[in-house]
Amino acid sequence: MTTPSSHEHPTVPILELKDVKISFPSVDAPPVLAVEQLSLAVREHEFLALIGPSGCGKSTILNAMAGLIPVDAGEIFFGSQPVRGVNERVGYISQADNLLPWKTVLDNVALGLELRGVPKKLRHAKARDLIRSMGLSGFETNYPHELSGGMKKRVTIARVLAIEPEVLFMDEPFGPLDVFTKEKLQDDIMHIWETSNQTIVYVTHDLTEAISLADRVVLISGRPGQVRGIYPVPLKRPRRVMDVKFDDTFVCLEKTIWADLRAELEQTGAFADEN
Ligand SMILES: Nc1ncnc2c1ncn2[C@@H]1O[C@H](COP(=O)(O)OP(=O)(O)O)[C@@H](O)[C@H]1O
Ligand SMILES: [Mg+2]
Repeated sequence: MTTPSSHEHPTVPILELKDVKISFPSVDAPPVLAVEQLSLAVREHEFLALIGPSGCGKSTILNAMAGLIPVDAGEIFFGSQPVRGVNERVGYISQADNLLPWKTVLDNVALGLELRGVPKKLRHAKARDLIRSMGLSGFETNYPHELSGGMKKRVTIARVLAIEPEVLFMDEPFGPLDVFTKEKLQDDIMHIWETSNQTIVYVTHDLTEAISLADRVVLISGRPGQVRGIYPVPLKRPRRVMDVKFDDTFVCLEKTIWADLRAELEQTGAFADEN
């Protein structure tokens, strides 16, 4: 049984890329054309997954929306404002944890607030709340090297949530973790998203992960990256990643997207060594 997502989508996108082109200069070769004529609208409050072959420009797209790299052509909008320079309204979680080894869990979570000049008492109070909600109570005075991979990831998530970003970018955030730790974190992220007003753009090369989490899956073509397909995910919420992948609708959608993803992978030579 399926029902539409419980989240309502207004028509004005929170983020929009219009005909975007991004290339990277190279010293002794032609520039690498990462993304070309890419148009995509991210709806406010949605959970959007970007999927595509390795090197197709997924991270580049996030970096451009975050204002970390310029576009060669086209335009990116946050609401009605063009993105120029670092976009302070987004929070970014990548595969790396980037925790400061000399700071405790409490101070790591409070770091973004410290950089924004929030007084110590206030930032610590907020950090303690987030540490509790991420299931890390009791570890406030520990240092990153004393934590497991999953716990470090929780600290990183708490640190980003502390600055209350309107949009959360996640770039293959749970890649190196074991499958059980990963599924627990995926459920926690869905819960955070379901109970907040946030918009999430989640990059992954894992199709099962994309469908489990997202309202819509966007397939990016092989380089130069363009939108190859957009697939709404009609699975009801709340979801649990461990159960949802056995749903008939899930399996059917996975087959459809996989056929298109496979075609892109074949074009990029990902199966070149297969007989
Ligand atoms: N800073 C950079 N300098 C040069 N080339 C880059 C840089 N960042 C990405 N690229 C190239 O752009 C393409 C897209 O990269 P990326 O966005 O990281 O892909 P994905 O995240 O989908 O794996 C790749 O060919 C990559 O080598
Ligand atoms: Mg990437």
